[in-house]
Amino acid sequence: MKDFKDKILFVTGGASGAGLGQAKVFSEAGCKVVIADVRQDALDQATAYFRERNAPVHAIKLDITDRAAYAAAADEVEEVFGSPPQLLFNTAGVNTFGPPEASTYEDYDWVMGVCLGGVVNGMVTFVPRMIKAGKGGYIATTASMGGFFGGPMTAPYSAAKAAVINLMESYHLSLGRYGIGVSVLCPASINSNIHHATDTRPAHLSNTGYLVDDLSVKTLQTIYESGMDPEDLARWLKKGIEDEQLYIIPYPEDKETLERHFKQIVDSVLPVEADPEGVRKRLEAWGKARDVAIEAAKENPDEPLQPGFGRPRPELDWVKPIEMPELSAEE
Ligand code: NAI
Repeated sequence: MKDFKDKILFVTGGASGAGLGQAKVFSEAGCKVVIADVRQDALDQATAYFRERNAPVHAIKLDITDRAAYAAAADEVEEVFGSPPQLLFNTAGVNTFGPPEASTYEDYDWVMGVCLGGVVNGMVTFVPRMIKAGKGGYIATTASMGGFFGGPMTAPYSAAKAAVINLMESYHLSLGRYGIGVSVLCPASINSNIHHATDTRPAHLSNTGYLVDDLSVKTLQTIYESGMDPEDLARWLKKGIEDEQLYIIPYPEDKETLERHFKQIVDSVLPVEADPEGVRKRLEAWGKARDVAIEAAKENPDEPLQPGFGRPRPELDWVKPIEMPELSAEE
């Protein structure tokens, strides 16, 4: 996507840090911006910034883990701007750190609930609306460099971010046929307010195994203060969207670490000679499954040839089938 003029952008976490930077940069590019955030004070401040510039903005107080509220927010966008958004940025996130063995259920439920569950809610709420609107669009989710690696202090956060990267890979493969692009932004460090994230932790999930005190907050603040400016990061995001890049990683210092990590994984795969019979059987099974799909397609020659598993329910008439273009039922 290259033209952002008059596009509607819905950005979660849009009242602070990376999300606010995105709202500013894409507003300057011509978008009508909806900022959704759980913090009213931050929303008020952010809204004032756009109003001063006469830029179209709409603020919604939203906890992205609340599915009913999310659906209501989507309705509100359509009422205010007359259409579902063409741009969805899943940017809201929280963190809190400590050893995995100290982690409580509530540490997992809060961090994964916002960082993964909130993204899932964004996708389930908006993707069908965006497809039905038929205008194409773009979805960009902010994961983290931390999603590529486990860490001795980051288990719930890294797990959520890993899942989010993986989730965007799936949607990227699927939504192209509707003209909806998908990117995942993987920052290493942002000069944001995330060291105050525990202020938004709900009371019913307050039981934590981590020591959150002035020292932990101050240490995190020291790290984040040297992070990338949110507007600079948003400009990299914009370039990534213009270039339709799936992964957007504007942190050159991490290239070698990523290379080492993925090499370790690839080097762990057995060579074919270790199990030639197993390899033959598994590949043959895929061929057989393809034959089953071809046989089934002969009975319904007007329907597209699709893999037998993973078909949508037929009443979802806005979902396009996943076709097997390299085959025909006559083969
Ligand atoms: P931030 O704290 O400045 O902004 C996050 C915003 O999300 C806040 O305004 C907060 O109120 C909002 N939020 C939190 N929980 C929410 C909920 N349940 N519903 C709606 N809004 C909620 O933090 P930052 O750093 O700008 O975070 C943005 C994204 O960047 C997050 O996904 C974070 O994990 C990710 N990230 C941050 C890095 C950093 O160094 N700060 C590094 C890598 C990724």
